[in-house]
Amino acid sequence: MCGIIGYIGQRNPKEILLDGLKNLEYRGYDSAGIALKNENDIQIIKSVGKISILEEKLNHTKLIDSHIGIAHTRWATHGEPNEKNAHPHKVGKITLVHNGIIENAAELKEKLQKEGVEFQTTTDTEVIAALINYHYKKSMEQALQKAIKELKGSYALAILSDDEPDSLYAIRCESPLILGIGEKEYFVTSDIGAILKQTRNYVLLGKNEIVHLTSNDYTITKNGKEIKRNVETSSLTSEDADLHGYEHYMLKEIMEEPVLVENLIEKYSNNFDLLPDLKKYKHIHIVGCGSAYYAGMIGKNFLEDDGLKVDIDVASEYRYRNITYDKDTLVILISQSGETADTIAAMRKAIENKVDTLAIVNVDGSTIARECTYKVLIEAGREVAVATTKAFILQVLILSLLSYKVNKEKEYLEDLKHIPQQLKVLLDKSGYYKKLADAIYTQEDVFFIGRKVDYAISLEGSLKLKEVSYIHSDAYQAGELKHGTISLVRNGTIVFGIVTDDEIRDKTISNLEEVISRGANPIYVGVEDCPYENKIIVPRVHKKLQPLLVVPALQMIAYYVAYKRDCDIDKPKNLAKSVTVE
Ligand code: F6R
Repeated sequence: MCGIIGYIGQRNPKEILLDGLKNLEYRGYDSAGIALKNENDIQIIKSVGKISILEEKLNHTKLIDSHIGIAHTRWATHGEPNEKNAHPHKVGKITLVHNGIIENAAELKEKLQKEGVEFQTTTDTEVIAALINYHYKKSMEQALQKAIKELKGSYALAILSDDEPDSLYAIRCESPLILGIGEKEYFVTSDIGAILKQTRNYVLLGKNEIVHLTSNDYTITKNGKEIKRNVETSSLTSEDADLHGYEHYMLKEIMEEPVLVENLIEKYSNNFDLLPDLKKYKHIHIVGCGSAYYAGMIGKNFLEDDGLKVDIDVASEYRYRNITYDKDTLVILISQSGETADTIAAMRKAIENKVDTLAIVNVDGSTIARECTYKVLIEAGREVAVATTKAFILQVLILSLLSYKVNKEKEYLEDLKHIPQQLKVLLDKSGYYKKLADAIYTQEDVFFIGRKVDYAISLEGSLKLKEVSYIHSDAYQAGELKHGTISLVRNGTIVFGIVTDDEIRDKTISNLEEVISRGANPIYVGVEDCPYENKIIVPRVHKKLQPLLVVPALQMIAYYVAYKRDCDIDKPKNLAKSVTVE
């Protein structure tokens, strides 16, 4: 994971880099660092913890005058999160920041050690710096090309050389990296969001491409040959990354759901031709990670009800399974970022097997958006909170629309129109969610149970709660609890019963009764009133739309529980927004 940003131009880079890092913090936040450069010097400053700690340190340090800089926020993979392991790393004349993983780092390190190179850290990043420095004789370009040939893995780099007073180099291999184009200034970054305050113009870099930036110009090369690429303009603005008065991005992003849902409905309900037709496929595989996988699980329920043959897997498993592909198979890859390493590997496996792929993604221009046969953008705008909320809802909406296109049930369209308004009304009940949060926030264990689509909803409700509040929580198929886990139910244990599917309503209620008789305190989430004291009743809508009204309520509860527990809601510990390592 990790986020990188680099600047070269006329201005002092400190504030630009710090602001960029704050926008990249969602990619990892256990340490951070910055390198500033002028004709004679390079100054490196690092700190453990959030960007605010680095900022504090920079404010108390005498900084050199400079017009070039690189910076990094880290999510540790090789070596613990301490100041020594934080980026930038400097070896000899080379200073760099790195996002990604070098798979053959140990091998390269051994080789370099035999040549007399000494290492200060256990990071793979120091190995890259040492390798480039080793190959550096006169030409940086040549040193970088040689290093690319030897490095295995996924990485993006921003690099400075002691010998070049007006140069910044960057390399992209698998990990995301874009080049930002300003007025007489340039940027490199893992995510356009980090530079939106400076420019909306950017160039996408391809695999193994090297970009050489000076204050006046840039050149992109691959294997020594120059490459021309179009400058594109992002539709995002820096506004997308602001809190707009909310205390946390998670709440802001949940509150955006009605409008975003309405936008997508407007776009597709007037023109279903914009969506691919799934009827022509004999077999559908759905693949994603975490919440994206749970969105897929909801989609699988929809599509199976349409009579399609659907398999689903988490990407980290799918990529290693022995799969016999039917000829008419479609693989649907779901990903907010479009850069999740396992989902990319799953996509490439499908492509190698010559079957069609469909990306359901948020970030246009991301690897998954670019490489799939078809793409449908969920148009969520920027999602900053590490825990996904609005992107999840929009992924489910797209799957629901795709499913409608298969069977075209009339009642669906009628209900679809009302969803944004109904969602808005549900989200306005924050007082009620806060009250439920009061009953939950002191718990040690929480369970969610449901069957079929309600089980998929339970998984997402449970993940959201545990990742932001740190309360242990698990989801079970309602019929499965009594096969072991019910022994954990104590007096007062909170058990959410998700009961939206009429076909299996009575069964799930019976399972809820089983835990109640063992002391559990139920929270019923359904479409019909019930005698339980704690309940969330949402309007009954077409079953392919129902999750769109239920999951947001669970997101609100997770938010308020985390709030009451004083958690770092937008940046839960140990997590990163975009998981670009395996
Ligand atoms: C949970 C969450 C993660 C992501 C997962 C996939 O709130 O956000 O589980 O859903 O890491 O990320 P993307 O969708 O970017 O592939």
